[in-house]
Amino acid sequence: MSVHLRPVLGGLKAYKPGRSPADIARELGLDAAVKLASNESAYGPLPSVLDVIAAAAAGINRYPDMAATELTTALAKHCAVSTDQVAIGCGSVGLYQQLLAAVVGPGDEVLYAWRSFEVYPILVGLSGATAVPVPLRDATHDLETMAAAVHDRTRMIFVCNPNNPTGTAVHAADLERFLDAVPDDVLVIIDEAYREFVTDPDVPDGLELAAGRDNVAVLRTMSKAYGLAGLRVGYCVSAPPVIEALRKVQLPFTVSTVAQAAAVASLAAGDELLERVRATVAERSRVADALRGLGVDVPATEANFVWLSLGSDAVPFATSCEQRGLIVRPFDGDGVRVTVGAPEENDRFLSVAADLLGPPPG
Ligand SMILES: Cc1ncc(COP(=O)(O)O)c(C=O)c1O
Repeated sequence: MSVHLRPVLGGLKAYKPGRSPADIARELGLDAAVKLASNESAYGPLPSVLDVIAAAAAGINRYPDMAATELTTALAKHCAVSTDQVAIGCGSVGLYQQLLAAVVGPGDEVLYAWRSFEVYPILVGLSGATAVPVPLRDATHDLETMAAAVHDRTRMIFVCNPNNPTGTAVHAADLERFLDAVPDDVLVIIDEAYREFVTDPDVPDGLELAAGRDNVAVLRTMSKAYGLAGLRVGYCVSAPPVIEALRKVQLPFTVSTVAQAAAVASLAAGDELLERVRATVAERSRVADALRGLGVDVPATEANFVWLSLGSDAVPFATSCEQRGLIVRPFDGDGVRVTVGAPEENDRFLSVAADLLGPPPG
């Protein structure tokens, strides 16, 4: 007899220790490998935040503030909402888990576009709810088909805007029409992990959409533009009843003292953030244009990554990149997602891509 494990676990991948970028570099005899696989910031935390992190470390013999009072207050100010409209969590992914725990159970359905962020199906599966993936159309959310898929068992919908891994973003008029079509008792999560990189004025600010709708929750993170992926801070802005439910299901102390202090300091460093975002956005255009020049289909991206629609060439391309010390993220049979890194990292990627993909056709 073995221990009874939940059947749903059978379908899930377990995270196991694997080869790090340093291991890959060592195997290849390189000083370092370039990791462009997780949409992290290439630049570290914002410059003024490092000292705050060091100072906060001196206090980690104490438990963190469970209510994250200072951070919640700072986020409420940042988002122009009240503190009862903000919940923080251990990254956006921690908040997904809280949202699912607060809203769904077995028999309920959770809708999302596919392909989208790979964590959605994992956590929906763990929650016991049924996942309803709706295929992307032209690499972007097919909001009409998603609205048509909503029915009486639908409890939650994820809209990833911009979408990971394609980088595409839905426009305000389309998203508003979609939200108007969704019943008020279905919670719509607008996942804006890449919001800071959005430059297209037609892409809506989720906070504005949430302001008039009690069934919308906006998720943002300090992991991407703010460069705090390793510290794990995400936040949710929604109506007070949703926020209260999120706080009830939060594991105690999931956002550390250091993470809270770093997030508060990062929010106060708006100019430093802007500079970083501008640099990333400029590099994003350069990388996307260069890839298109090689004949690759790269959809317009509003995030800090580009999507190469390589179909069945996705895995061979990523494997060849890795053999040259470049770690990118393939999705088998579909495409490859490449994070926009620092200029020299992007140069290295573009030179490998040119080598592998050859001159443009014709
Ligand atoms: C769409 C999306 N949401 C959330 C996350 C994860 O954010 P966090 O680090 O806050 O858990 C990612 C990370 O890749 C993402 O792509």
